[in-house]
Amino acid sequence: MDTEKRRVQVVTYGCQMNDHDSDRMVELLEPLGFVGTDDKLSADVIILNTCSVREKADQKLFSELGRLREWRAADPDRILAVGGCVAQGMGNDLLDRCRHLDLVFGTDQLAQLPDMVTRISAHRLRVAATEWRNADEFDFLPIRPQRRMEGTHAYVKIMKGCNKFCTYCIVPYVKGRELFRPAQEIIDEVRMLVENHGICEITLLGQTVTSYNLKNRQPGEPRFAELLLRVAEIEGLHRLRFMTGYPRDVHEDLLEAFRIQPVIQPHIHMPVQSGSDRILKLMNRGYTRAQYTEKMAALRAARPGLSLTSDIIVGFPGETEAEFLETISILEEIRYDSVYSFAYSERPGTRATSFEGSLPEPERRRRLVHLNGVQDAITTSLLAECIGKTSEVLVLGPSARDPLVLRGRTPEHRLVNFIGTAEVGELVQVSIDGAGRHTLKGAQIMIHAA
Ligand code: 5AD
Ligand code: SF4
Repeated sequence: MDTEKRRVQVVTYGCQMNDHDSDRMVELLEPLGFVGTDDKLSADVIILNTCSVREKADQKLFSELGRLREWRAADPDRILAVGGCVAQGMGNDLLDRCRHLDLVFGTDQLAQLPDMVTRISAHRLRVAATEWRNADEFDFLPIRPQRRMEGTHAYVKIMKGCNKFCTYCIVPYVKGRELFRPAQEIIDEVRMLVENHGICEITLLGQTVTSYNLKNRQPGEPRFAELLLRVAEIEGLHRLRFMTGYPRDVHEDLLEAFRIQPVIQPHIHMPVQSGSDRILKLMNRGYTRAQYTEKMAALRAARPGLSLTSDIIVGFPGETEAEFLETISILEEIRYDSVYSFAYSERPGTRATSFEGSLPEPERRRRLVHLNGVQDAITTSLLAECIGKTSEVLVLGPSARDPLVLRGRTPEHRLVNFIGTAEVGELVQVSIDGAGRHTLKGAQIMIHAA
């Protein structure tokens, strides 16, 4: 490796949105001569990309910062930075509370990162940059890879922020109101990734992507379904996905897009959060259980075989045992491929913190364990139902355990380990002959010329 290069380690907490931002951070620093590293000891810059959506984010951050005190002290040229939601929320306080921290930057200051790092290196300043963006001047940060990207898949951000104000959620407070990226910019970015970087699968990313231009639409800008159709037509793009969906936004135009455009893959991450109408109302989710299940049935009618995944919160304030069991029953009714399940945790400043009936921590845990047991059984049985079928698989590379076995994904986003000879990025037919707890097994079907 080039010894002139400086190294940056970005440690990511939280969701795909943050993973995506972390990749952008490394990419932005590349022109300054940085390369990414996973090795803390050899890093010149460490960035903690924080998340405040769940759990005790502040505590976790302070203990991690404590562990990095020695690393920072060992070399005065090193830079320790904190970005993401917690940084956005705490700003200058964070610099005050942690003397060995050099930089705090918010979720809208990504583009200024190279400049801030340069200034800190030159003048040893301590910088906090977490000002709210001004929506008028706000730009999305395009993907501009300096090198060829690895793999076959990329995320493309289409929106920022959230307007939904679910009562448990801190996202609208730390990320601000929803803001949509112009469609042409999204299309150009996808085209660039496909044409120049060998990407053949794209996931459009945002907190509630299906709300794209649903309200306050600028003249000439498409709604979400039309955006999907336009992106799907890009030559060389084989697979198009999106996350996260918002149940109330499922309308006829989205159903039609699923009916007519096979590049849109048969999987949607569509969080239900709870199966109880009373809890859904308290959560301010904007739909009833029946409305949700009807929309999912309509999606499945539009695209037979559609797989669904979800987020679930258990132990919301006041959730009775019967209401918890309604959540269990919606898992069984919908039969999700998988769910991300969370025990409710109080987020300061959100409305739910003042709701009555806070449940003891052990009870929240118990419900989580129970729910995970039920979901595991559903996942296992859905995977077992794939045995004997043939599936189109996009090859990701060698499997983690055995380099002679390949790893790929089905259209439904299921992972498959299979015996075969295909190259990364190829689409092949695989006959499924086994299922584990989370993955499928199979063998590539070889097509012999007659
Ligand atoms: N407690 C538990 N889970 C939460 N989520 C968001 N806020 C909270 C909270 N306060 C979960 C939701 C959301 C996912 C990203 O995180 O399920 O969909
Ligand atoms: Fe949070 Fe609700 Fe917005 Fe999702 S839709 S980010 S849960 S406020």
